[in-house]
Amino acid sequence: TPGIAVLAAVGYLLGSIPFGLLITRLAGLGDIRAIGSGNIGATNVLRTGRKSLAVATLVADALKGTAAVLIARWLGGETAALVAAVGAFLGHTFPVWLGFKGGKGVATYIGVLLGLWWPFAVAFCLVWLAMAFLFRISSLSALTASVVVPAGAFLSGYANGPTAIVLALLAALVFIRHRPNIERLLAGTEPKIGGAKG
Ligand code: G3P
Repeated sequence: TPGIAVLAAVGYLLGSIPFGLLITRLAGLGDIRAIGSGNIGATNVLRTGRKSLAVATLVADALKGTAAVLIARWLGGETAALVAAVGAFLGHTFPVWLGFKGGKGVATYIGVLLGLWWPFAVAFCLVWLAMAFLFRISSLSALTASVVVPAGAFLSGYANGPTAIVLALLAALVFIRHRPNIERLLAGTEPKIGGAKG
């Protein structure tokens, strides 16, 4: 089996494909980083008004994480899958191609959850949807799910030690990447989904 470092690199390379940037550029919308929050993720793609492109970004950014996990598991087992999960997430959030300025990690987090154990991804989506229904703020929904899912997975015993550590590490990175959102949430200025500025 290939070494762990190779699988981490494969995960990173898959994760580093900036689908939001590519999809919006191919659609002739220019540079997504000049729009809205400046993020390359699905939430910001939605601000272009093109729902189908936002969905495509969400799915592609998620499935690259799923693919990394499944390929690594197939080649090297469960530890390899966890390493590739971290690699893919870091590839998305810190892509070498974009000067290490990547996305906020939410879709890719869901994708690696899907690959690791699909009910984790379902749980994340349910928490996200419930919060979005209540508050209509994408970042708040993602941040809440990023606390609830790793904590719930660990406390319920559904995640073993290494898995729980990886889920918590990636959730911490989701928070770090959402620093501007957290500041806006605290200031009460974070835009709502489908709102004037959201
Ligand atoms: O998935 C990213 C989302 O939580 C926030 O995106 O564009 O509102 O900063 P954005």
